[in-house]
Amino acid sequence: MRILILGSGAREHAIALKLSKEIGKENVFVAPGNGGTQNCSSNVDFTFKDFDKVKAFCLQEQIEVLIPGSEEAIDAGIRDFMEADSEVKDVFVFSPDKHAGQLESSKAFAKEFMAKEGIPTAAYQSFTAETVEEGHLFLASLKPPYVLKADGLAAGKGVLILNDLQEAKDELSSMLVDAKFGAASSTVVIEEFLDGIEFSVFALTDGDNYVLLPEAKDYKRIGEGDTGLNTGGMGAVSPVPFFDDELKLKTIRDVVEPTIKGLKKQKLNYRGFVFFGLIVVNNDPFVIEYNVRMGDPETEVVIPRLAESLSQLIIDAKNGQLTNRIAAANPAFATTVFAVSGGYPEDYDKDKVITINDASETLFHAGTKMVGDALLTSGGRVLAATCYGATMREALNASYEEIESITFEGKYYRKDIGNDLEKFIK
Ligand code: AMP
Ligand code: GLY
Repeated sequence: MRILILGSGAREHAIALKLSKEIGKENVFVAPGNGGTQNCSSNVDFTFKDFDKVKAFCLQEQIEVLIPGSEEAIDAGIRDFMEADSEVKDVFVFSPDKHAGQLESSKAFAKEFMAKEGIPTAAYQSFTAETVEEGHLFLASLKPPYVLKADGLAAGKGVLILNDLQEAKDELSSMLVDAKFGAASSTVVIEEFLDGIEFSVFALTDGDNYVLLPEAKDYKRIGEGDTGLNTGGMGAVSPVPFFDDELKLKTIRDVVEPTIKGLKKQKLNYRGFVFFGLIVVNNDPFVIEYNVRMGDPETEVVIPRLAESLSQLIIDAKNGQLTNRIAAANPAFATTVFAVSGGYPEDYDKDKVITINDASETLFHAGTKMVGDALLTSGGRVLAATCYGATMREALNASYEEIESITFEGKYYRKDIGNDLEKFIK
């Protein structure tokens, strides 16, 4: 099998590494990839945005499976494009089509889907510029804090959580009337606030059946103690110590199975990964959001713990042969810690020389590029050190040791990944 992965992050590196071990480096390609993906696959020089190049490369290299790493590629309609073209329609695009991708790209679509399927989620209503006054009344009927979500993709910035009613009303007007988040906020979902701890569960589906992958918890804020600005993710841990048998059973019964059945019932062209962003309230799981691709940095711990063949799961999905089950997982903990460029997620410098002594295979690259023999920073999140351990602390110690051995000017990382989970470890 020959596979092309679209993307350039540590998520794509983790997927490429796993696949290359299974089907051989010569059969795995990443477009555009980064300074690390070239060690386990071949980088090819285009992005998902250039559909014609994706097509030409699939023909030239006899690609059988295309994996879009990001929601942007799915929302741009890469699967729809491939399926509509007689020359590449048989390439198995392992993702939903654009319409089904609204499970992530439209909060209102996702909420409606969940309401129809009876999937537990925060109570909500959607508003547009025409109904902004009703939105103000709805806000006044709720207790603070107020949760306002731009409907569309807003690169993780479209959610506001506010304590003051007047501020919430003003922000609602600014989103709907003044297009605070552009077209993404022409519809706004207002939700009941749920107070609990968040984590994520992943499944792989062919649209009929699913295989549950290992779960993970990520750390989104730049500062220790979950403070400061949101980032693309500063670290992750798998397994999640509070995801016990009872919570797992409820999650499968109340969230995963109704979602997979709902995809079919609502005739969505869905296959690929499903990312359930969950919050646990009184030991019950509620869906905060769906993503239609793997998470980053969660993939950097989920895929290393997957103790079965990912390529075989994809082949089974292609042949409609998945059966509902939980994937075999390595019982060890996997943790990942991200080294980021100083200043990120605000302005930061690029092109800093990176030195790595003794990289482990699971040092996943994100914002790196090779220029001649030099490895340089090329993005905010630079390298994710994934390590294993019999305990979470052992894995974290190894991740930190690896991160500390890397140098580049301005390197920053959070030192408290996993600390909030200690209390759940028996
Ligand atoms: P989302 O983009 O929907 O995942 O929201 C971003 C973040 O906002 C989530 O990871 C939560 O931390 C928070 N959040 C979203 N919806 C709610 C809610 N209904 N109650 C509490 N926190 C929420
Ligand atoms: N870690 C969250 C995401 O991938 O969206």
